[in-house]
Amino acid sequence: MTIIITGTSSGIGFALAEYFGKKGHKVYGLSRKHTESNYFSSIPTDVTDLNAVQNAIAQILKAETKIDVLINNAGMGMVGSVEDSVKEDILKLFNLNLVGAVQMMSAVMPNMRTYKSGKIINVSSIGSEMGLPFRGFYSASKSALDKVTEAMRYEVYPWNIQVCSLHLGDIKTNIAENRVRTKVSEPYKNIFDKVYALMNSHVGDGTDPLEVAEYVNKLLHKNQWKAHYYFGKFGQKIGVPLKWILPQGTYENLMKKYNKLD
Ligand SMILES: NC(=O)c1ccc[n+]([C@@H]2O[C@H](COP(=O)([O-])OP(=O)(O)OC[C@H]3O[C@@H](n4cnc5c(N)ncnc54)[C@H](OP(=O)(O)O)[C@@H]3O)[C@@H](O)[C@H]2O)c1
Repeated sequence: MTIIITGTSSGIGFALAEYFGKKGHKVYGLSRKHTESNYFSSIPTDVTDLNAVQNAIAQILKAETKIDVLINNAGMGMVGSVEDSVKEDILKLFNLNLVGAVQMMSAVMPNMRTYKSGKIINVSSIGSEMGLPFRGFYSASKSALDKVTEAMRYEVYPWNIQVCSLHLGDIKTNIAENRVRTKVSEPYKNIFDKVYALMNSHVGDGTDPLEVAEYVNKLLHKNQWKAHYYFGKFGQKIGVPLKWILPQGTYENLMKKYNKLD
């Protein structure tokens, strides 16, 4: 298979690209930094730059006939209170987590339509299903991508193209270092420091990215995809159904405890 993965210079994307390359697939990794690997071809690309995205896909299609899979993995986090957040940071986040992913999908769609097949995985977060404290815009950016995924499924199924959101729990990567960090104002400082330490410790104790690759491999072997898949520790995944089952107040109290806000 020909598989294009974004955000392959580190973390989950690097693990995915090496995993599928080792399995003998033709893998192209797109991130801004060039990455040396024996298992995949790195094409330095900023996915927020439409020209760069189109050039990268044109370069791939000089060597390959058909694009089988796109994994939209490039993304970043953002931390800070909603009140303190500024337009520049919010736009930077949405420009990568939403617009970058959409530009990649638009660039591969003509090829997938021609061959009446293709699979697209949009890497989302369990946190897209609920507004996480001090990560409101991260939740919102992934939630926006989920809604685009849901809508697109209706639009592209006539060509046998499938799209899904893969919601991840905490995975042990450098995401904490690469987050957009909003300047925290005095009223939020104490509570933010507690929540921030906790969120970093969750990532530090997170699942190995290789396990994500194994899960994605299973997903690629499924014939019919649902819109949403959830991968992570039980304690994180359970937050999704609980939000719908529990009374809203009970759910919020549970989230306050989980995030040490009480
Ligand atoms: N780690 C977690 O706990 C977790 C949980 C849920 C969801 N996720 C999602 O998983 C995905 C991967 O995250 P990660 O944890 O592996 O983080 P990471 O180690 O920080 O990797 C992010 C990747 O995105 C790339 N990237 C950033 N801006 C880019 C741009 N403009 N164009 C192209 N590539 C760009 C980076 O490469 P360059 O800097 O070289 O461009 C890097 O390879 C993200 O979408 C994240 O939201 C992660």
